[in-house]
Amino acid sequence: MEIKVSPSLLSCNFLQLEKEVRRACAGGADMLHYDVMDGVFVNNISFGLPVLQAVKKVSSLPLDVHLMICDPLKYAEKFAECGADIITFHIETGCDVGKTIDKIRSCGAKAGVSLKPETPAEAVADLVGEVDMILVMTVEPGFGGQAFIPSCLDKISKLRNEAQKKGVLLDIEVDGGINAQTAEQTIAAGANVIVSGSYLFSADDMAKEIARLKALQAL
Ligand code: DX5
Ligand code: ZN
Repeated sequence: MEIKVSPSLLSCNFLQLEKEVRRACAGGADMLHYDVMDGVFVNNISFGLPVLQAVKKVSSLPLDVHLMICDPLKYAEKFAECGADIITFHIETGCDVGKTIDKIRSCGAKAGVSLKPETPAEAVADLVGEVDMILVMTVEPGFGGQAFIPSCLDKISKLRNEAQKKGVLLDIEVDGGINAQTAEQTIAAGANVIVSGSYLFSADDMAKEIARLKALQAL
């Protein structure tokens, strides 16, 4: 599968938000990752609807919105209205999964489901074929710049096997502690959508690093 790269805006320079969005778009990214945190589902608060609206105005790429919030069903429509193209929610919220997927799609967005490092693949295995994307967190959600957790690799393989068994072309996204080395490991395990925050936004030449990640598919 083609490798797609989704730079995480959580690590950008917020004082230069427009410039940073344009840098990622011009650098060959496939989409932009936008982390929404409510301070309850995770121990941090990031940004929400009005900032997404602003990003949408200057982004030439699909917006990949990662909801780390307790009530995704309540807010899905609002995020779609503000420009989200893919909306991913967490299975650990205990929300009504079917209703949430339907709501996201009825707003014209793609639906993804995410799982934290300690949540087993089995928790979302039934959703392979039902969702557009599964986001496997490779750090505890809440903060950028953390170290990759290698035990998550096995989960990626399990989900890729499940998709192959069902004959489904599933996007498997990884998020957390991703650099060229860890990206290679996740791709070998079956991931095809690579989120990266601190590694890409701290790069002097983001385009070169994005190209490096996208070239990993050929290895
Ligand atoms: C963490 C977020 C990530 C974060 C990744 O909860 O979901 O998207 O920005 O940052 P890095 O790539 O620096 O680990
Ligand atoms: Zn994220």
